[in-house]
Amino acid sequence: MIKSIEKILNVQIEKESYSSHLYLSMASWAEAAGYEGISQWLYVQSDEERLHMLKFIHYVNERGGNAIISAIKVPPAKFDDVMDVFQKVLKHEEFVTASINEIVALCNNEKDFTTLNFVQWFVAEQIQEEKSARAIIDKLKLLGKQNLYLLDKDIMAMRAAAEPVGGVA
Ligand code: FEO
Repeated sequence: MIKSIEKILNVQIEKESYSSHLYLSMASWAEAAGYEGISQWLYVQSDEERLHMLKFIHYVNERGGNAIISAIKVPPAKFDDVMDVFQKVLKHEEFVTASINEIVALCNNEKDFTTLNFVQWFVAEQIQEEKSARAIIDKLKLLGKQNLYLLDKDIMAMRAAAEPVGGVA
């Protein structure tokens, strides 16, 4: 495996691991605050990020590289409110999308079309991840606080109806 590709994929492993940790922290905050649906959405999101991390780990190892498991930085534990949480989810997903795009650019530079093909799944996934965060923010903007209870139930139903994420590579 090309060294520069192995390096950038290991950086991505760390980012996906942090994403899982960040959403776990948000889920725990929401659960403690009594938002059952929102916490469930975030717990599942955290699990999905772990699957993303595993996809990268397996890919690096299967292609003859060495996947590195590094320390995860501590995520924030306190949030102002539900809007604050989802704005941070969106901001984080935009950051991850930029990272995936950097991998795509490097694959093109290095003419690594195998990794380019592998990473296409993540390009498509990022569109969905940003879309769901924006959809929830839009709903939050429409609602007053008294309706948060109903939104909480609505989000739980969204998660239940969602397509399961693709299996581990
Ligand atoms: Fe794995 Fe939400 O990006």
